[in-house]
Amino acid sequence: MRLLVRSISGGAYRSIIKPILFHKSPDSVHSKTIKLGSRVQSMPLLGALPGLWAQPRDKRLRQTVMGVSFSNPIGLSAGFDKNIQLAPLLKRIGFGFMIGGSVTAVACDGNPRPWFYRLPRTRSLVVYAGLPNQGVKRISKRILQYPRQLFQDFPLVVSVAKTNAEFTVEESVAIDDYCASLVHLERNDRVAVYEINISCPNAYGGEPFTEPGMLDRLLRRIDALELTRPVIIKMPIDLEWGAFRELLEVIVRHDVRGVTIGNLLKNRSRAGLKDELPDTIKGGLSGMPTQPISNELIRQTYLHYGDKLTIIGVGGVFSVEDAYTKIRLGASLVGMITGLMFVGPQIVGEINAALLKLLERDGFTSIADVVGVDALDHKS
Ligand SMILES: Cc1cc2nc3c(=O)[nH]c(=O)nc-3n(C[C@H](O)[C@H](O)[C@H](O)COP(=O)(O)O)c2cc1C
Repeated sequence: MRLLVRSISGGAYRSIIKPILFHKSPDSVHSKTIKLGSRVQSMPLLGALPGLWAQPRDKRLRQTVMGVSFSNPIGLSAGFDKNIQLAPLLKRIGFGFMIGGSVTAVACDGNPRPWFYRLPRTRSLVVYAGLPNQGVKRISKRILQYPRQLFQDFPLVVSVAKTNAEFTVEESVAIDDYCASLVHLERNDRVAVYEINISCPNAYGGEPFTEPGMLDRLLRRIDALELTRPVIIKMPIDLEWGAFRELLEVIVRHDVRGVTIGNLLKNRSRAGLKDELPDTIKGGLSGMPTQPISNELIRQTYLHYGDKLTIIGVGGVFSVEDAYTKIRLGASLVGMITGLMFVGPQIVGEINAALLKLLERDGFTSIADVVGVDALDHKS
């Protein structure tokens, strides 16, 4: 039954809904999706329908990582639900976790529009949002209004960035800004994990904390907060392995449990563009261009730091094969955004159902057993 519903929904998304959506500006599609989604999730009958896409829980997909229990490894990556307005709907669709935000200490309108530019043939979105969000206080209040049990089997990861404004360019102010958000979130018992976003390519003053010395000073201050939930770092993917490894060397010296690999791609010459992309369009690229780069960084990170860091693999997941590859290369969990837009929301249930088939085919009893099996010998 679910298989049929997913297959019909996927066909309808590809042949009817996506062509309509892709005719409209991505900025308006994104904001209307958030508005419609928050309305739908509160309707008793209509709101329950997305539950038909979800794969029923199966203990073979369950894992405890960083001390947190995940019912399946597929999550929403940071940036789609910036103000954490869609948590009930995202759980109903079948996600095993969500990364909300990025949130910042001070509310921010983001960069001048447009924020998004679609590259349909490249299967990518150019993102220039600049961390728009309602600010940690208002967002944290919203999280507390959800029923507590919503997050019991659906861990909420909150992505924390530094406020996108001129005043945070100064290092000590920037560090205080991150810490202010974390201290505020510590009072919110529904948050399961903190993701520190050091790699937003569109913010005022660039990405200063991707410099090892500055990252070290930031993490020293975060250590001192003695946070009660695990901390992970959202990594940039524009670095070569040597420079990436320098950041990991800093990270493992601190109270950090994992890394998300990774953020948007800035270097367009590595993007394998199949669409025109004028220089006037600013921003970092999501989707397919990030896939091989993130996969190789996941593999290397798992090989060298797999015993110390949990990896959330993000970048260009459009199918079960894409998710499975990331897990086989070393990711315990997988995040996605662009795949959702290009393939439709039934993709989450499709991936979880197909992961179970792949486990059977390959003779694994649990998804945890798959993590990293290809890290040593994969040729990317
Ligand atoms: C619309 C959009 C907004 C994003 N905003 C954020 C953000 O606020 N914080 C963040 O850490 N990453 C942000 N990202 C990056 C994604 O979390 C992810 O790392 C990247 O898009 C690669 O994954 P994908 O190919 O599945 O989209 C954003 C991406 C997209 C597409």
